[in-house]
Amino acid sequence: MVRSLLPARFLPARLLLTSAVLLAASVLAPTMAQPALLPAPLEATWTEAGVFTVTPETPLLVPDGDLGALRIAGILADLLAFGEDTRPRTVEARAYARTPRLDAPPPIVFTDDAPDSLGVEGYVLTVAPEQITLAANAPAGWFYATQPLRQLLPAAVEYAAAFPVPLTVPAGRVVDRPRFGWRGMMLDVARHFFGPNEVRRVIDLMALHKLNRLHLHLSDDQGWRIEIPGWPALTEVGGRTEVGGGEGGYYTVADYDEIVRYAAERFITVVPEIDLPGHTNAALVSTPELNCDGVAPAPYTGIRVGFSTVCVDREETYAFVGDVTEALAAYAGDVIHLGGDEVHELPVEDYRRFMTRAQEIVAPTGRTFMAWDEVAETDVPLLPGSIVQAWRPVTPESAEHLADAVQNGARLVLSPADRIYLDIKYDSTTALGLTWAGLNGVRDAYDWDPSALVDGVADSAVLGVEAPLWTETIGTVRDIEFMAFPRLAGVAEIAWTPQALRSWDGYRQRLGAFGPRWAALGVQFYRSPEVEWAPEGVE
Ligand code: ACM
Repeated sequence: MVRSLLPARFLPARLLLTSAVLLAASVLAPTMAQPALLPAPLEATWTEAGVFTVTPETPLLVPDGDLGALRIAGILADLLAFGEDTRPRTVEARAYARTPRLDAPPPIVFTDDAPDSLGVEGYVLTVAPEQITLAANAPAGWFYATQPLRQLLPAAVEYAAAFPVPLTVPAGRVVDRPRFGWRGMMLDVARHFFGPNEVRRVIDLMALHKLNRLHLHLSDDQGWRIEIPGWPALTEVGGRTEVGGGEGGYYTVADYDEIVRYAAERFITVVPEIDLPGHTNAALVSTPELNCDGVAPAPYTGIRVGFSTVCVDREETYAFVGDVTEALAAYAGDVIHLGGDEVHELPVEDYRRFMTRAQEIVAPTGRTFMAWDEVAETDVPLLPGSIVQAWRPVTPESAEHLADAVQNGARLVLSPADRIYLDIKYDSTTALGLTWAGLNGVRDAYDWDPSALVDGVADSAVLGVEAPLWTETIGTVRDIEFMAFPRLAGVAEIAWTPQALRSWDGYRQRLGAFGPRWAALGVQFYRSPEVEWAPEGVE
């Protein structure tokens, strides 16, 4: 990466701060002077050095020739645009330095001189009246540095019509890197279909909290949602149903490719799931040869589970799995999830035989095989590096199965239903959602430690945390927002912030202060009585 040669005035602002009075401030208990960052960073220090003022003249300087920094500076410039004609300029630093101006406005500077210890996702964000510096080792780090910067700006920055001019950012320094590499959300687009625009909205809200995995549950009994070349009936028939009898829908190859690309631009990797061998009624309806008797069943638009299975004794089934896998592997990504949950219609031996063969079909694609925790319970011999998604409330017995899978080389993504299933109701007043795993209040969803969830599994085997949102009762993007927020912000913090820096009290206060930002973004979040929400409106 090209290192920029900057004159003294563009030195990282943390050097400029050495003479300032540094007031160490715990991120756990924000006051009016301590901004509410979600997720909480590793280290944050606020100073009395004043504020940085953003104007339409503020230049955004990037290392020369660094297209990654230029792209992310462009995203920041879009956020800071006061209107169509007032988008701050993005400029290569050396060119900017060549034409010094006495009245040059303080710049926002992207540099590549972050400590190596911060890795590719870490960053140092320094705000002083003279300069804002975003230092990172890679584009992901710069992108993640822009999120706290955004959260330090007034909430109204999220809604251009209410833009306060000028914008100010309090002085301070944030040094940050994530706890876990897998910080995810799952969206079930099978029970109810959500189109590309709705998925992009979810991606935008995930990015605000530095989530980096979007798992799309692309097939279930009620619908098949992704075009598979050579199998047109899957979408033409199986894509036309959803829970409650709605019209359904599906992603064309172009739609899905665009979702993957949009997510990747925000450092989110899409994890596609085709649920097999159960949860397959929509596939069985459209493809008679996947049924043992060769007869397609009727479409299903209710919300029962566990009643369907592809025929594990027919070679056509494995040809189908091969074509599906190949289609998924054609998109950017690194994991293929083949489900494996709640197969009540198959003897365990048949289930194990099917899942074993399915993972062998995935292997040549180079993608990592992922499945729900039934594969651990039934001792499917997983290939080393496979990912088990632990979803059922953990018992001593299930912990043993998970620990055995890890012992054999698998890794875990934690999605405990009784904590972070986003389709479980918050409390008795929640109209949407289900209750089979109890109630997941805002505190319940936040106040747990991934390291303590599964006895006998070392932290090194836990890739991270992912919050599923099943959509049996969720029909609109507003429903998604209501069930996801604020709980998804807590999941992001569980995955990002070291356990020792997290507390319910600190989180609760930051959530309360964050409400106006979601409101400015038009997010339909649940104003849970567990939190004291700050008044909303233009500041
Ligand atoms: C699941 O909730 N059936 C993975």
